[in-house]
Amino acid sequence: MNILDGRKISNQIKEEIAVEVAQMKERGEKVPHLAAVLVGNDGASLTYVGSKVRSCKKIGFESTLIHLPEETTEVDLLRQVEDLNANPDIDGYIVQLPLPKHIDEEKVLMAVHPDKDVDGFHPTNFGKMALGMETFIPATPFGIMELLRRYDIETEGKHTVVIGRSNIVGRPISVLMSQKGKAANATVTVTHSRTKDLTEFTQKADIIVSALGSPDFLKADMVKEGVVIIDVGITRVPDETREKGYYLTGDVDFDQVAPKASYITPVPGGVGPMTIAMLLKNTLLARERHS
Ligand code: GUN
Repeated sequence: MNILDGRKISNQIKEEIAVEVAQMKERGEKVPHLAAVLVGNDGASLTYVGSKVRSCKKIGFESTLIHLPEETTEVDLLRQVEDLNANPDIDGYIVQLPLPKHIDEEKVLMAVHPDKDVDGFHPTNFGKMALGMETFIPATPFGIMELLRRYDIETEGKHTVVIGRSNIVGRPISVLMSQKGKAANATVTVTHSRTKDLTEFTQKADIIVSALGSPDFLKADMVKEGVVIIDVGITRVPDETREKGYYLTGDVDFDQVAPKASYITPVPGGVGPMTIAMLLKNTLLARERHS
């Protein structure tokens, strides 16, 4: 069993980006500037956004955090989005999801200018991705692809079973892995909450990408020997004995499944750090495309 060390690879990617930023500075060029909009005080979102902003500082990017109260109206948020679209100083920005229930998420994501949409969530960018055109690839699937590439995992002709069909992970990773190219050319099955006999699919899978958000869901008897496991789930499980009052766990029962796997991502330290690194990569690309 080998660990797919997302923390190590994400640090490598961040170092590579930092070198490019230092060169930009030396040439007297503007450095990439990422903004993040956070509405409300969801604990996990606060952690993610904080981590994104800290990473920007570390690699020499400019960053701006726009933290709006939970009661922010849709109109006010759309105005904020328009301001960011018009602000030439901002190369790329994200609106952290989930948004409060009174705000129409689709309307907000549609308002983000595609050239600044470093999350790759706008239909224009999602469409370009599906067509294999150059665009911003959503950070989590981009991170999974990069992890597979850097560990030289053979995916060609392999049966990949994706669990979950979300717009952020399941859907895009299924598109990317079935395309031509490195870490791709796979035969992909997308499974979801309405799939009958999920185990029948997972037992036959060479590669499993689980993006379900259900702690310890995938057990040893559901996978075959030598499987590659990509665990995207990160759930906070309440635990009074921990300092933070919770611990993080993935979709995969790691202790059970790891001995059967050829490669496996841990949680935390697998896909999570890769997501941040690829968001930074997209922001660097945005800066390069704008200049
Ligand atoms: N919420 C969970 N993942 C993401 C992400 O990749 N981007 C944004 N904007 N929100 C998220």
